Amino acid sequence: MATIYTEDILIEKAKTSKINDVDFNNLSFGSTYTDHMFVCDYENGKWQTPKIMPYQPISLDPSSKIFHYGQSIFEGMKAYKDAADDVFLFRPLDNFNRMNISAKRLAMPEMPEAYFINGLKTLLKIEKDWIPTAEGSALYIRPFMFATGKGFHASPADAYKLVIAFAPSGPYFSGKVNVLIEEKYSRSANGGVGFAKAGGNYAGQFYPTQLAKDKGYQQVIWTDDNTHEYIEEAGAMNIFVRINDTLLTVPTSDRILDGITRKSILTIAEAEGIKTEVRKIKATELVEAAENGSLKEMFGAGTAAVVSPISGFGYKGKDFELPALENTFGQFLKKKITDIQTNKSEDPFGWRVKV
Ligand code: PLP
Ligand code: COI
Repeated sequence: MATIYTEDILIEKAKTSKINDVDFNNLSFGSTYTDHMFVCDYENGKWQTPKIMPYQPISLDPSSKIFHYGQSIFEGMKAYKDAADDVFLFRPLDNFNRMNISAKRLAMPEMPEAYFINGLKTLLKIEKDWIPTAEGSALYIRPFMFATGKGFHASPADAYKLVIAFAPSGPYFSGKVNVLIEEKYSRSANGGVGFAKAGGNYAGQFYPTQLAKDKGYQQVIWTDDNTHEYIEEAGAMNIFVRINDTLLTVPTSDRILDGITRKSILTIAEAEGIKTEVRKIKATELVEAAENGSLKEMFGAGTAAVVSPISGFGYKGKDFELPALENTFGQFLKKKITDIQTNKSEDPFGWRVKV
């Protein structure tokens, strides 16, 4: 990887701020953007000087390879502000490392840590006032990289743009989520790009997810592409299942995103004495557990979704409702993780990074 390595960032400030137009108590997810963005171009075999500039449209040549061959990856992170106005990130190096894992798989250039982390921290200092503090809200951080290099030849581009944009956001889902266990379509396959945060992974999910929505479900739970017997993950979340008092999730693989929330939840649960199991789970095991009453809860876990309870699932034309429990593992673990993220509790695992 040929790179220049510098901590210098060119900063151009916006002339006016949009912040007074925003109702911070009624934020939807990911639809309001802050005043500035971080941009860094990769050209002539190296990363150029990074810039922070007013948030604005990006103009591209119609032959840019992003439009034709989909070289596009992204990350999802959050920043939080505590009562003392201090700003925190959660495990940011994990997102940085995963972005480079995605870049490698899509034949895109890896980026140096200093560019990503210093750029992010500098932008956060400038946009600090945009970090919402209402319950369930945070500043959603969207780093993304795409091919700007030109040409209709189906080969990797020679130029790329890395952008980091911020969106003060409320919850991803409002209320419980009803899911459909998918029997026909696949999100990913062995040897594919399922483990990468590639834009195309999401595009491929939209059609089957729309079919599920038309039937009254909010999300699809993907199954293995080979047999469609084993559950894998949801569109934007890893999946947890509680059978009696054991918390289960499936092992990550080259078909499944190695979620940072997933691994944090597993660590917290184990430290709290909750019995955990990481193993393959058959859809029919969920059906049997739902029928004999041992399936106590299911929830999805992800940066955007945090911990989102699942109210029920559909499988092979039948619907199964989950019991409405008083004290769930989901609620308990959601509070534990958000208290760490927002500096309301100790951080025994060293995950919080003060900006
Ligand atoms: N699985 C998919 C497909 C996702 O898009 C996400 C969201 O990032 C997750 C799982 C959860 O990952 P993380 O907890 O790192 O946000
Ligand atoms: C995230 O949880 O940050 C994600 O990237 C999910 C996204 C598809 C909204």
